Amino acid sequence: MKKFKKLIAEKISTACASAFPGTVVDVDDTEALIEYPPDASMGDLALPCFKLSKMLRRSPVQIALTLASALEGETDFKAEALNGYLNFKISPDALAGSTLSEVFADKELYGSPKNGYGKTVVLDYSSPNVAKPFHIGHLGTTVIGHSLKKLHEFAGYNCVGINYLGDWGTQFGKMIVAYRKWGNKEAVEKGGCDALVELYVRFHNEAEKNEALNDEARAEFHKLELGDEENIALWKWFKDISLAEYSKTYKQLDIEFDSYAGESFYTDKMPAQVQKLRDLGLLKIDDGASIVDLEQYNMPPCLILKKDGSTLYPTRDIAAAYYRYNTYNFDKAIYVTSAAQSLHFAQWFKVVEMMGYPFYNNLVHVPYGTVSINGAKLATRTGNVILLKELLAQAIEKVDRITAEKNPDMSAEKRAEIAEAVGVGAIVFYYLSNNRIKDINFMLEDALSYEGNTGPYVQYTYARTCSLLEKCGTVTMPEKVKITTDEEHELVKVLAQFPERVSAAIEAYEPSYITRFILDLSASFNRFYHNCQILVTDDADVAATRKALTYAVNTVLGTAFSLICLKKTKQI
Ligand code: ARG
Repeated sequence: MKKFKKLIAEKISTACASAFPGTVVDVDDTEALIEYPPDASMGDLALPCFKLSKMLRRSPVQIALTLASALEGETDFKAEALNGYLNFKISPDALAGSTLSEVFADKELYGSPKNGYGKTVVLDYSSPNVAKPFHIGHLGTTVIGHSLKKLHEFAGYNCVGINYLGDWGTQFGKMIVAYRKWGNKEAVEKGGCDALVELYVRFHNEAEKNEALNDEARAEFHKLELGDEENIALWKWFKDISLAEYSKTYKQLDIEFDSYAGESFYTDKMPAQVQKLRDLGLLKIDDGASIVDLEQYNMPPCLILKKDGSTLYPTRDIAAAYYRYNTYNFDKAIYVTSAAQSLHFAQWFKVVEMMGYPFYNNLVHVPYGTVSINGAKLATRTGNVILLKELLAQAIEKVDRITAEKNPDMSAEKRAEIAEAVGVGAIVFYYLSNNRIKDINFMLEDALSYEGNTGPYVQYTYARTCSLLEKCGTVTMPEKVKITTDEEHELVKVLAQFPERVSAAIEAYEPSYITRFILDLSASFNRFYHNCQILVTDDADVAATRKALTYAVNTVLGTAFSLICLKKTKQI
């Protein structure tokens, strides 16, 4: 569509110059004003003439009428004036011809904004806290983060995905105390993460009755900080156990990280930043703690050191950003966390700016809303949590059962493969269907439905394009593109919008734009499939065009799936 928006903008600019002598209407500005009409019957594109009205000192109605008659005789589109709008109907053959040739030329790269080459983006996401549960609250950072990575890679950026593991902090003191009091090697080895979480939860329950446990935990953490061998060995062990389990979940989600440098990695990198803050005169002592005052920015102070001199979450983030800038020389550093951490990021971003670091403007916090499941809120400390692995396992099991009912003859192996792709895909798709900032109530039944706007539905559509293509043989760009129905034209219009949707998703850090695109494309394709014969038509040009459209949908759906970490399955 971009190409046609540009073409129309150029024609309008020229038409204005002759219809309204002495005026200059900028092509790019006009292109930016062109929009999609709410109702397809009005046209494929529209230009509201209100902005032009100010510039040209004529009424929008008059401008629209004048331009419509100036543009009469155009072959690639027809312009029509209506209430101060210029509505455009693009020639279906021209739009299909140009869109299909782009898809055939670019294939899997069709839609890429191609504007990231030579630039680096660092993405900090997932980052669970070791020894605490990896619950469905982490689903957001994990899938939004990975999708943003895919989107940036698609645009050509060099991307570094960092899992900033929460592998340092007082919780390790708690774990060490809990393990020595109530744990044992065999039980933890056997139970893995679950056993660790159990110990963690037990610690909190017991500490409610016995305050002294918290002091013990602080002391053990302090020993850990000082490098106590036994505590270090326990800490490493807890971390290895957790990582082994996270890897299973990441594998299911098809996610890999480039770095696992967690919070502990920055322990020796913080003192230099604290010193710099001190040298700049930015540190203030407040009730024994060291803070950076942010009152003039209407924020509470940023805590740098506790009373006892130990470092804090913001201290580590500052040190990590500095290190990453020097290591990766990033053009953008993206942090994906729940909106509950928005203030934390605003605070330390400001501190980095006050420190005079050049990269302060390249830091981006991408927040998302809360998740509840079937109406129930999550609570970490009481143990009332739904683990991400459990949610995935449930989804996989349900799909397996549905598949067995549908295809009783299918081998268990094949079924398992489908169940994993479709079960995990359903969760990811459902999660990414909403604007990220919205709170989500996860309804598993809805996510897994094969009807409605779900993962299984779009995967089914993809599988349908695959089986059609198998019957088509080799598909090439048609010599003569021939569009004869509304369904084909509407389908082409959606395909033509893909590049704009990708750019918008990257600009807004919003994977849900891709999810919505996938739904639009699936719906248009299914209408086309039901109303137009694809494999049997008498007209060779029509047949070639329809096959090419099927190929284009298959390719573009495949690309869009990979942008939101949804697996492509040929069978469902
Ligand atoms: N581990 C943190 C948590 O689970 C998230 C870390 C986010 N990244 C960062 N650089 N602060 O809440």
